[in-house]
Amino acid sequence: MKRVAVVGFGFMGMTHTLNILQHTGLQLVAIVDNDPETIEKNLFAPGGNFSTGKIDPAVLKNINKYSNLHECLHDEELDAVHICVHTELHYEMAKLALLHFKHVLLEKPFTLDVKQAEELIELANRNNRILMVAHVVRFMPPYQKLKHWIDSKEFGELKFLSLTRISGIPGWGQWTEKQVSRTSGGALFDLNIHDIDFANYVLGPPSEIKCSYLPGGLSDNDYVSAMWSYADRDVHVKIEGGNTFHSNFPFQAGYMAQFEKASVVYSSSNGEIIRIADNQSIRDIPAGDAGEGYFNEIAYFAECLKNNTQPTECLPASSLESIKLCYNHLK
Ligand SMILES: NC(=O)c1ccc[n+]([C@@H]2O[C@H](COP(=O)([O-])OP(=O)(O)OC[C@H]3O[C@@H](n4cnc5c(N)ncnc54)[C@H](O)[C@@H]3O)[C@@H](O)[C@H]2O)c1
Repeated sequence: MKRVAVVGFGFMGMTHTLNILQHTGLQLVAIVDNDPETIEKNLFAPGGNFSTGKIDPAVLKNINKYSNLHECLHDEELDAVHICVHTELHYEMAKLALLHFKHVLLEKPFTLDVKQAEELIELANRNNRILMVAHVVRFMPPYQKLKHWIDSKEFGELKFLSLTRISGIPGWGQWTEKQVSRTSGGALFDLNIHDIDFANYVLGPPSEIKCSYLPGGLSDNDYVSAMWSYADRDVHVKIEGGNTFHSNFPFQAGYMAQFEKASVVYSSSNGEIIRIADNQSIRDIPAGDAGEGYFNEIAYFAECLKNNTQPTECLPASSLESIKLCYNHLK
């Protein structure tokens, strides 16, 4: 069993906790949150823009709780740390864990400062640790199916891909604190990055990005509409979405993909199916549960810990590339 701690017990920290508890190769030994009341409070009133499952409070009774990562690293024998604090703390927390020779699973976005991300990659390499950024969409079954169709060319070449992601302005946890929300990077770096990262993962970086964006409650780029094109291929990618809607607006994400021989559509608002249409027919296939992506990414990280291998399905260098691509949308 690999011994792990979760840092930041908000929406994502609870999601990691729940999935660590379900993994037979991982042992949750500690939870760190600077606000000790948060751990108890969040258990009974979890935040987030969708449900990622419930933790049985009784299970957490025997888990050690800390109010700072320093103490936890000093007192506990850990293999890895799951860092689920807000983006402005990613660099500081990941650096501390890597300096203590812990492997790190870090919530997205990597860091908003490219130099800080480069430094973390260098430190992980130097200390021979695994560093992975939790790009959950890469591990979601409906998106894994799409990647399979793109790679296998089952429906011919991909011609057009539209990726959308819409949410209300985050109204839970520290998102309501102005200083924290302002340093999130806005929807572009926090929400659209899921689709930017996925498109880059399956197709590589585009030659050209044409982008329009609108301001919202967090930043000047809280609604994004972008078109990617490739000089060497006849394929276009549309990235669209944001969090300018009211807090309780239902989260929705999905894709439409036009291949040479068929078009496919998936939406989390009808998340059980993927619809496949061509000129003769239309059929539905099971999409798989997108929510399983959270377990899958943690299981993948656990597999890397067990085998002491680098996370080739989600290397930190490609997570850094996604940050750079976000900046390219603002040029
Ligand atoms: N992968 C996804 O689907 C997804 C979804 C939402 C958020 N996120 C990412 O997760 C991160 C956290 O977002 P959230 O929505 O969970 O936030 P949140 O506000 O719900 O939780 C943050 C938690 O961190 C704690 N914290 C603050 N400072 C701390 C410190 N110094 N040490 C320990 N704990 C500290 C807070 O008390 C709080 O409980 C962000 O980087 C965000 O981009 C990812």
